[in-house]
Parts: sequence; C-alpha cells; structure tokens
Amino acid sequence: MAPLLRVEASTKRFGGLAANRDVSLAMEAGEIVGLIGPNGAGKTTLFNCITGYMHPDDGRILFDGRDITHTRPERICRLGVARTWQVVRAFGRMTALENVVCGALERTNRVVEARARATELLEFTELRGKHDAPAATLTLADKKRLEIARALATRPKLLLLDEAMSGLTPIEAAAAVQLVRRIHEELKVTMCVVEHVMEVVMPLSHRVVVLDYGVKIADGTPQAIVRDEQVIRAYLGERGAAH
Ligand SMILES: Nc1ncnc2c1ncn2[C@@H]1O[C@H](COP(=O)(O)OP(=O)(O)OP(=O)(O)O)[C@@H](O)[C@H]1O
Ligand SMILES: [Mg+2]
Repeated sequence: MAPLLRVEASTKRFGGLAANRDVSLAMEAGEIVGLIGPNGAGKTTLFNCITGYMHPDDGRILFDGRDITHTRPERICRLGVARTWQVVRAFGRMTALENVVCGALERTNRVVEARARATELLEFTELRGKHDAPAATLTLADKKRLEIARALATRPKLLLLDEAMSGLTPIEAAAAVQLVRRIHEELKVTMCVVEHVMEVVMPLSHRVVVLDYGVKIADGTPQAIVRDEQVIRAYLGERGAAH
C-alpha cells in the first residue's frame, strides 16, 4: 500500500538559503511521527510545503497517491491535510465556536451542520463553556486547542501540529499530549508533531524524523534517535557529543 504522505527530495530555497534540501520522508496511515531539529532547521518550511502554503523549488510531494506539489492550500485541505500554526492564528474577534465553524464549513455548506460539528469538537478539545468567548480573550493553551479543533473540523486524514505544546505550563502540556493521543485513538487521524521538548515528543511518537540545516539527518524509532551520534551533535555540538 502507498504511504499516506510521501515527500520526495523536496528543496525550498529562500534566496541563497536552502531551508529544506532534498528532504525525503514517508508517513503511513495511523502513524504519529515526531519532526524535530534545532531552531531554523526547516520544520515549519516543510509543513508550509506539505500544506501548499509554499511550494518546493524541487522535488515532489504526494498525498494519498496524488501529486500535490503545486496544489493550492484550500484544495490540499479538502484532500485531507490540516495544520496548526507555530504562532497561533485564531480569528481573534470571532468567538471560539465561530472559529471552529470556519473549519467545518470546509466540509458542508449547511451552517446548522457546521455548528453541530464545531460544538462537538469544542467538547472534544475541552473548550466547553468557552463557545461564546472571543478567541483573542482565550489563554495561549486554549488558543492552541482552538486551532486544533478548527483543524479537526476540516476532517483531516493527516494533521500537522507545529509546536502545539510550546509555551505551555507543564500541566497544560500534559493535557495537550493527552489530546494528541485521543485524536489518534478516537478520531484515527495520522499526525506529524513538531515539538522541541524531548520528554513530550519521544514518548508520543512512533517514529522520529530529524532535520538540521534543512537536511534530514535521521529517521527512526525514538529509542534509536536519542542514541544517534549525528542527532546528538546537531543538538549539543561537537563537545557535547564527545561527552
Ligand atoms: N518566508 C521566509 N523567508 C525567508 N527565509 C525564511 C522564510 N521562512 C523560513 N525562512 C528561513 O528558513 C530557515 C528554516 O526556517 P523554519 O522556520 O522552517 O525553521 P524551523 O525548524 O521551523 O525553526 P523553529 O524551530 O525556530 O521554528 C531559517 O533559516 C529561516 O530563517
Ligand atoms: Mg518552526
């Protein structure tokens, strides 16, 4: 069976800088893949290319067997790829419910149906009681949940989470991990999770892909990744690796 997502030698340049260089990876349906790498490694750029927000300069991206390399973002969303943003992009003046309705309207023209789905997802993401709050007034943790609810409302097969747990307190982060597990188990959504906190990403991921300076340097089980010399060097430098 073909993988759900296949990135083939994707390169994205900004002037002289290759933010992604020849990046190849595959994701099978049902996986949770952790995508890690130091700041500026190219993680968000890869998400931007997969979701059509940017297009690679070279290489191909296939989703569900279809070439989406140059497809527009709204079409990719309709095919079943959703994301959240590293810097949250909730519609601040709209209520929490309205934000999620926007996602749901991607799948239905019936507002009643979209509201019902949005209400269910606010329950699922534990935002009950906050339906009518303007999104701008929510805490960071709630805004991140709201973005997840809005993404889920588009009924994705693949969900890309860009630092959905960063900036949260340890208790909030633990709740976010539980939410990711429930999305995987109950909604059967395949996920790619960008996260800096190793204690979060390692136990959550079936497999971990590591980027460094735009290049994929490792791809394997969390157990193998934490022992990988190139990965240790990327995070700690030569001296750290020697220790
Ligand atoms: N729109 C852009 N224009 C120019 N350069 C960009 C743009 N987006 C990203 N870059 C550069 O590309 C490189 C990769 O950035 P990217 O945001 O993908 O990294 P990242 O792994 O997500 O980093 P972080 O962990 O800090 O979020 C960086 O050097 C960044 O400055
Ligand atoms: Mg980023």
